[in-house]
Amino acid sequence: MSVTQSGSATYSGELEGSNAKRGLWSSRLAFILAATGSAVGLGNIWKFPYVTGENGGGAFVLVYLLCIAIVGIPIMMAEVMIGRRGGHSPVNSLRAITQRDGLKPAWKLIGAVGVLAGFLILSFYSVIGGWAISYVGTTASGQLAGQSADAVGAIFSGLLSSPATLLAWHTLFMALVMVVVARGVRAGLERAVSILMPALFVLLLIVVGYAMTTGYFGQAAAFLFQPDFSKLTTSGILVALGHAFFTLSLGMAVMMAYGSYLPKNISIAKTSITVSVIDTGVALLAGLAIFPIVFANGLEPGAGPGLIFQTLPLAFGQMPMGSLFGTLFFVLLIFAAWTSGISLLEPIVEWLEEKKGMNRVVSTLGAGFVCWALGIASILSLNLWADFDPLGFVPMLEGKTIFDLLDFFTANILLPLGGLLVALFAGWVMSRKAMENELALSPAMFNLWFVIVRFVTPVAVAVVFIYNLL
Ligand code: TRP
Repeated sequence: MSVTQSGSATYSGELEGSNAKRGLWSSRLAFILAATGSAVGLGNIWKFPYVTGENGGGAFVLVYLLCIAIVGIPIMMAEVMIGRRGGHSPVNSLRAITQRDGLKPAWKLIGAVGVLAGFLILSFYSVIGGWAISYVGTTASGQLAGQSADAVGAIFSGLLSSPATLLAWHTLFMALVMVVVARGVRAGLERAVSILMPALFVLLLIVVGYAMTTGYFGQAAAFLFQPDFSKLTTSGILVALGHAFFTLSLGMAVMMAYGSYLPKNISIAKTSITVSVIDTGVALLAGLAIFPIVFANGLEPGAGPGLIFQTLPLAFGQMPMGSLFGTLFFVLLIFAAWTSGISLLEPIVEWLEEKKGMNRVVSTLGAGFVCWALGIASILSLNLWADFDPLGFVPMLEGKTIFDLLDFFTANILLPLGGLLVALFAGWVMSRKAMENELALSPAMFNLWFVIVRFVTPVAVAVVFIYNLL
């Protein structure tokens, strides 16, 4: 397999696996669909509202938006650029670049961080994906119609209290992800993204429309967009930074993998910005849909990971055709989570194929099984082990269950660390000529980007880390 890509190859529709023909995306749109499919997921609709609620709203949102703009977009550009320059799976891309440019091979570590993060994230991501599956039945059955906040809360607590039910839905979600990865048929699903993502967007708009009728829309908008810096803590800044990585699928070399399929003549900056804007738009819309319902029903913004499952069902129980919209909404949420879940498992499977010479099906089964088994710890954290905080002796981690710790460690430590390595690689190691060539920006824009990845991102990540350790 040659290191340089041939510009004449076209995207063949079967681009997965080291043995598959490495075609290029037919268009910029195909790349945007795949990258958006990975980026838009539970992070936008489940996680963004609840971390915003937990961290006091506006000031947190502002820091999050700054992190997207100043750290997220430049790192996404760096990942896509490294992937395209290397032209292989992340580990092999880094090896190809380091060999070609006579650099130290240790940078392959970025790929290893990605594999570890993928395992850990997918284990709990799949449990939440299972909640979404469970809520398809809850909404479709019509049992939410006209329910009170207490009744809706009781349905959610009922789900969390049953390890067997959670396990069943977690198993189904993992199976969905594994089937696609094992068969290497991502292309079809990615094409589906072009219909399903806009549909999800429209449904969110419908819920926002309903939320406007509650009379609490203004209060919600103020909560989200009027920064009150007295509510911002150093750990809130860390969560905002970590969430910027999580929601854009950064720090795990996923965008690097997708970048290796991007044709040479397509602007990395424009595509990265497009993906980031769509992703942020979905998150903000989710916030505008959920917080009016929170305030209208006297719920707690800081309710934690259950927030959307305690608020959206209320809206679906009250609005006209709520059962229909609710069912559709959760089906679309499953699709969004599914395409993201695939992008979490894919790098692990590719790594097993390349490193261990295992075939795709065996590596999918093996990696999927490990994620699934690890997911059981997250399930038990919601009920039987709810009071077990294994690292409770560390002040910052007090009261965190295994599930909370997995989320915290991956999003707030591993992903920023992965991003830091990407920034250092692009900012200090890779040949500047090669990067100018790949990014094809005006000299001023290139310098702006370069200063960011060379100085701003590493310093920002380091400062946030150090502040939180102290
Ligand atoms: N971005 C996805 C979400 O917001 C989650 C995700 C998928 C992810 N692939 C990733 C996060 C890779 C980090 C790295 O739901």
